[in-house]
Amino acid sequence: MPLSLVLICQVCTTQHKHKNSFVFKFCGFLKLRNTRCTPAYGCQPLTVAARNISFSPRQVTSDASFHSASFSDTDHPRVLITGGLGQLGVGLAKLLRKRFGKYNVILSDIRKPPSNVFHSGPFIYADILDYKNLREIVVNNRITWLVHYSALLSAIGEANVSLARAVNITGLHNILDIAAEHGLRLFVPSTIGAFGPTSPRNPTPDVCVQRPRTIYGVSKVHAELMGEYYHHRYGLDFRCLRYPGIISADSNPGGGTTDYAVQIFHDAFKSGKFECNLKPDTRLPMMYIDDCLRATLEVMEAPADTLSMRTYNINAMSFTPEELAQELQKQMPELEVTYDVDLVRQAIADSWPMNFDDSNARKDWSWKHDYDLPELVQTMLNYFSTDACLARAN
Ligand SMILES: NC(=O)c1ccc[n+]([C@@H]2O[C@H](COP(=O)([O-])OP(=O)(O)OC[C@H]3O[C@@H](n4cnc5c(N)ncnc54)[C@H](O)[C@@H]3O)[C@@H](O)[C@H]2O)c1
Repeated sequence: MPLSLVLICQVCTTQHKHKNSFVFKFCGFLKLRNTRCTPAYGCQPLTVAARNISFSPRQVTSDASFHSASFSDTDHPRVLITGGLGQLGVGLAKLLRKRFGKYNVILSDIRKPPSNVFHSGPFIYADILDYKNLREIVVNNRITWLVHYSALLSAIGEANVSLARAVNITGLHNILDIAAEHGLRLFVPSTIGAFGPTSPRNPTPDVCVQRPRTIYGVSKVHAELMGEYYHHRYGLDFRCLRYPGIISADSNPGGGTTDYAVQIFHDAFKSGKFECNLKPDTRLPMMYIDDCLRATLEVMEAPADTLSMRTYNINAMSFTPEELAQELQKQMPELEVTYDVDLVRQAIADSWPMNFDDSNARKDWSWKHDYDLPELVQTMLNYFSTDACLARAN
């Protein structure tokens, strides 16, 4: 005869009637003195991770909605961007503010913002290593989307492994817990650097061997896996894109291996000379910043049922320093390019994908890039010539 027994879950305090005596006998009985909800009891899985003494999981019931019960579908998301003063954050804030309103997007960092950024919309200090401060920001500002940009990039990370480990791994743990506890939609970018020398390199598919050899890469594989784990375990709405090297005109790169592709434009306009720190035939996937930011918005807005996976490659083009220089020299024939290879960066680049297979992103949520190499070069040249003209006029 099946037993019917009511147990009180010690985690979420919900009373659960056990439907299945077999499950009770072989699972519940053993756990009678420390009963927790588990799918084996026919209950919902736990919605939050018990984190530390300052967090009481009893604040969130097991049937809490992860898509913010207090906001209707017509409300705009309330977005927090961490690490927002780097190469990508200010541009993303601009794009999101255009769509969701200036006051619905908060930029944050541990650095002091330049005055144009400070006056362009809400800015707040947020150290991702300070869990309580992060939680306060999320609660006080009724945040519903979190874009997690804080990181130490590949070359900088190799120069300071323990800081990279703290920021890229411990910081991510804080972000995951905050996002799970407060039912946020979470975006964490990954990178071509999440692959290594044993991954297929041309092209690199979404799912394959990932054995990166940098702390940056290791931390990004960790982020992909932890985000996907939280999604499966707690229902966290985790979304992740593996960005290629990003090229932008009005923001400086933050110490990555693909920085040369931005620096060449700055130096071409400043001195007409460029010394490249990678070999001329080093092929890497690249993307113009507008495509990258639009992809981020698109994947965040994509209906959940269109996402067959939680971590996608995205791509636009793939070129070598020599090919980029040749494209630039079509319009600046006087540009002199020389090569002085940085062995650390070269070793990193040689272990990374040469080209990305992003067919799943194109199929699932209609990803499509706008900028190829000639278009990218033309756009950068237009920006720098206007900038140079303005500087001369002032
Ligand atoms: N830029 C690229 O080419 C590229 C390519 C692939 C992936 N990504 C990823 O996109 C994200 C943004 O990249 P980016 O180029 O803007 O990076 P960036 O290095 O330019 O900026 C990172 C920001 O993080 C901040 N930061 C550092 N420690 C922090 C802490 N403890 N708390 C809060 N903020 C902290 C820094 O002050 C900096 O402003 C990163 O996660 C990066 O891994 C970037």
